[in-house]
Amino acid sequence: MATIRRMRFHRFGGADVIQSDQVEPSQPDAGQILVAVRAASVNPVDFKIRSGKYPAVKNDRLPYAPGRDLSGTVLACGAQATRFKPGDEVFGIVNIYGGGYSEQVVLDERAVALKPTMLDHVHAAAIPLAGQTAWQGLFRHGRLQAGQSVLIHGGTGGVGHFAIQFAKAKGARVLTTVSADNVNFARSLGADVAIDYRTQRFEDHAADLDMVFDLIDGETRERSWLLLKRGGILVSTLTPPSQETAKQHGVRATRYTVEADGAELAEIASLVAEGKMRPHLQQSFALDSAAAAMTAVEKGHTVGKIVLTVQ
Ligand SMILES: NC(=O)c1ccc[n+]([C@@H]2O[C@H](COP(=O)([O-])OP(=O)(O)OC[C@H]3O[C@@H](n4cnc5c(N)ncnc54)[C@H](OP(=O)(O)O)[C@@H]3O)[C@@H](O)[C@H]2O)c1
Repeated sequence: MATIRRMRFHRFGGADVIQSDQVEPSQPDAGQILVAVRAASVNPVDFKIRSGKYPAVKNDRLPYAPGRDLSGTVLACGAQATRFKPGDEVFGIVNIYGGGYSEQVVLDERAVALKPTMLDHVHAAAIPLAGQTAWQGLFRHGRLQAGQSVLIHGGTGGVGHFAIQFAKAKGARVLTTVSADNVNFARSLGADVAIDYRTQRFEDHAADLDMVFDLIDGETRERSWLLLKRGGILVSTLTPPSQETAKQHGVRATRYTVEADGAELAEIASLVAEGKMRPHLQQSFALDSAAAAMTAVEKGHTVGKIVLTVQ
């Protein structure tokens, strides 16, 4: 059987543990589809898993193939997978056991949607994990409504740059913290107020908020409680916020993990088609340069997304 290229690591560590392996292609189970990956995005979770400190991936999962989302072409469908057919161009989230940094991967068909036709695979691959994280944080957990106000911390990273656009498309007032070089970019995405977090105190520019979307954690989060109105909500992608602190401030707080949801991804694809959101690509790397791409993301200053081109 012909083999395929898959980037993997056999031990936890720094970027140097990433290697290119030739492996046998997987076959789709009943509800899965096999996809020829054309592009795969790099997310912070990839280097967190690689470091060995991510709870859901331990030694028993080695060798591990990183890559939580992708865009590509359907090659085959499992016996009970009926939503797509070979040749369809799709994008979606790969489960936590990964494999996006590969020439082929299997996905649950419910985690996938048709790729927006106006995007090439490289731009489409930027969307699924970061885009759905933004969507679920704002709307599933934050219940953000038109006319409400949200402060998005880290507004020009992968998740943040989608969150600004989704919140704006919903009709919310959007405030965001960014570094000076990215103020204009944040405004171009729709932010009403872009605060340079290095030279300005965001507390001086925000008050009476309905929601804080925390993509940063630490002291940034702790300084944000007072900015929420009573009954407001702090939603975080990082460590669980203190329920006690939330109670003291008369607000709610939650932490969540993104879930794959093809129907929701199709909704996001419609916003792309309507011109209401666009992925921004900082840079693309060839699959064999996955280690360098992960190092770039690990610096923590990505503007938009970094994506691997596969074939
Ligand atoms: N729970 C989940 O399911 C889930 C899902 C996705 C992501 N996450 C986590 O959410 C976080 C954000 O993900 P991401 O993909 O957006 O990361 P990213 O693409 O690496 O973006 C990080 C952004 O944070 C900004 N930043 C750094 N320090 C800041 C500060 N003090 N104040 C404001 N902005 C600051 C950086 O901008 P500058 O260059 O301007 O500093 C950069 O644009 C990561 O830790 C990731 O692991 C969790």
